[in-house]
Amino acid sequence: MFPSEVTDFFSAQKTPFYYYDLDVLNATLKEIKKHGLSKGYHVHFALKANNQPKILTLIKKAGLGADCVSGGEVQRAIDIGFSANEIVFAGVGKSNDEIELGLKHDIFCFNCESPQELEVLNELAGKQGKTARIALRLNPDVEADTHRYITTGLNENKFGINASDLDEVLDRIPELKNLKLIGIHFHIGSQIENFTPFEVLCDRANMLNDHIENRGFKISVINVGGGFGINYAHPNDNSIPDFKRFFGLFEDNIKLKDHQQLHFELGRSVVGQCGSLITRVLFTKYGESKNFAIVDAGMTELIRPALYQAAHRIDVLTSAKRNKNYDVVGPICESSDTFRTDISIPEVERGDLIAIRSAGAYGEVMRSAYNLREANATVYSDEIE
Ligand code: LLP
Repeated sequence: MFPSEVTDFFSAQKTPFYYYDLDVLNATLKEIKKHGLSKGYHVHFALKANNQPKILTLIKKAGLGADCVSGGEVQRAIDIGFSANEIVFAGVGKSNDEIELGLKHDIFCFNCESPQELEVLNELAGKQGKTARIALRLNPDVEADTHRYITTGLNENKFGINASDLDEVLDRIPELKNLKLIGIHFHIGSQIENFTPFEVLCDRANMLNDHIENRGFKISVINVGGGFGINYAHPNDNSIPDFKRFFGLFEDNIKLKDHQQLHFELGRSVVGQCGSLITRVLFTKYGESKNFAIVDAGMTELIRPALYQAAHRIDVLTSAKRNKNYDVVGPICESSDTFRTDISIPEVERGDLIAIRSAGAYGEVMRSAYNLREANATVYSDEIE
């Protein structure tokens, strides 16, 4: 878990705060290099999972590119120093300003999600006298076997171009003179632990790749998105996802043509396990049927449990007492502001420190100011002596 000097350091800090273990991040990046980048794969980090400049700088240094879904993220990627030709820009609803920003910087590729977006992008590119490189985000209609809020590759989801519209889109593309079709893009969902959906995705991607190439387009980019899940139950034993198996699956199943490169957009698997939310017990409440540990972090700092019923591991850092069952809850005026229900943890008292683990992805980025809460602090492992 955390060595005593780290816990001592935590004890002196104002809570709640996000803590990032940069050794875990660097070890994760090393595995991505070893099993992914070394095979010539391009891995774009999904900034939506974490946009802390210090984290992004390490990710950039490791040789990953950037996957953005807003003008703000494109700008952040540029500010960090990602080169424009490593930036991809996705999203079902890109505004004119956002598209113009991407065009201005000549980003590598716009992942386009609807026939109408192609028309607008073509027009805006023309105004700047530019040719926009595009990949078509295709909806492969694959069941990702994950929470319904984070599945994206089904026909009923709002994402991507449906297979039934593809031929019409391909008919139109040659007329859109300011666009250059360079790739196809997929993303079937997030926190996918069962690998079968990825195998199905590869089959669909191979089929669509053949279909589009047979129509006379030269597709150089096959982008299979992200979605690789992490182990929320056992972050210590599984601090680094099995990238060998993940990249190996694609190596075995995707049929690349000679002129094609394989691209990924990974978020959670890169940063999920390096972050923890550190919080203090404010009060304990022992009821007739329930015990509550009320902590000073809430759904405003980490919304995943409230939004997706996510179960993050909870470690008590400052108590070695006998276990008791608790609901660990935050201070926000919402019943859904509950991190875990009925979990067995060492008995806690006011002032004890708790770590909510595996919070490096979709944690700090999703915080809100609801209840006019003060923004949390951020602490990095290299700031601790
Ligand atoms: N590419 C696209 C087009 C995406 O929509 C996403 C995530 C990713 C890549 C990165 O996926 P990852 O490797 O992180 O699974 N807030 C939710 C997750 C939302 C994911 C949205 N899309 C959560 O906390 O579970």
